[in-house]
Amino acid sequence: MRFDTRAVHVGEEPNLAPGGTGDVVMPIHLSSTFARAEIDVPTAGYEYSRSGNPTRDGLERRLAALEDGQHGLAFASGLAAETAVVLTLLRPGDHVVLFDDLYGGSRRLFTKVFGEQWGLSLTFVDATDTARVAEALRPETRMIWMETPTNPLLKLCDIEAICELVQDRECLVAVDNTFMTPAFQRPLALGADLVVHSTTKYLNGHSDSVGGAVIVNSDALHERLRFHQNAAGAVLSPFDSFLVLRGLKTLGVRMRAHQEAALRIAGWLSDRAEVARVIYPGLDSHPQHDLAARQMSGFGGMVSFELIGGLTAARRLLENVRIFALAESLGGVESLIESPALMTHASVPPEARREIGLTDGLVRLSVGIESVEDLLEDLDRALKRTQA
Ligand SMILES: Cc1ncc(COP(=O)(O)O)c(C=O)c1O
Repeated sequence: MRFDTRAVHVGEEPNLAPGGTGDVVMPIHLSSTFARAEIDVPTAGYEYSRSGNPTRDGLERRLAALEDGQHGLAFASGLAAETAVVLTLLRPGDHVVLFDDLYGGSRRLFTKVFGEQWGLSLTFVDATDTARVAEALRPETRMIWMETPTNPLLKLCDIEAICELVQDRECLVAVDNTFMTPAFQRPLALGADLVVHSTTKYLNGHSDSVGGAVIVNSDALHERLRFHQNAAGAVLSPFDSFLVLRGLKTLGVRMRAHQEAALRIAGWLSDRAEVARVIYPGLDSHPQHDLAARQMSGFGGMVSFELIGGLTAARRLLENVRIFALAESLGGVESLIESPALMTHASVPPEARREIGLTDGLVRLSVGIESVEDLLEDLDRALKRTQA
């Protein structure tokens, strides 16, 4: 089955067996516990909804199928998924190499919780250059944690080249694929051991659920993560699992629409006098456009740009848009706008922001699927007011 067909059908096959009701849509199995006909035999394999739930199972199977993986696990948030990966697969004293331009919350989780409180040792590198990742490796490096493209500077790392660096080492490669989604990028096929998602974003796609996921190929990794998921308990609820299953049906269609509008807006912004630079992997001007075209089958719906007028202009722009909602998060059908320095990345210390090039005048767009002409008119009106 091809991608768009898998997105609609895997994990949601109608039950036509005797006693099955043939639902075309996955029911929301709200039951916290499952009655048994026989003491020793859980009915249809289910005992208790933290350990396993039919709606969540359906979602986990679909997530695996879309990422070309063997096993999917759904968690209560993207950060809960990241926490499960670290607590299951790493130990205090282990060393992790991370991209220096991660989502602010991921960076905070690693530095404040797993670094300062728990004892991981961390090296943040500019992973746009694979050589820097190689230089950062130590004998005790047990994981490389990448996000590509990054949030919000849309920097890329070469997943395949990074995986090759550690193929003979006891070191796992985890890739946060939230921005591209499996519609445009499949890290497992490029050699990664784990794919992580905030399903809150494009996978659910409608800004009405918070969730996370991990997808792996290895049975051994899956067994350990599955044990942790049940033992620690940060599972995705049946209702949220239903929402993400529903959202995933249109993932391919939505991603193509997001990308078409984003490309148009990125090109349009590039010609504006108020804008110092536009960052979008689909533009020739993106320093890693060639890698983007090779590694991804699309360029996504996120566009960042820097205003000549800095923070003052950014504030004016955000105050004057009408269709773009001023909000954190991304990946929904509605367009969002935000200032990373003031909002999503405020938890990153100012000096760390400066080091990676995250300036105060940077604005991030999550381009939705509205009519692009309306979005351009909205930006045009608000950009003109940045000069006032
Ligand atoms: C790239 C990326 N990874 C992880 C997360 C964390 O996910 P959640 O907010 O679902 O915990 C986010 C949230 O914005 C994100 O953008």
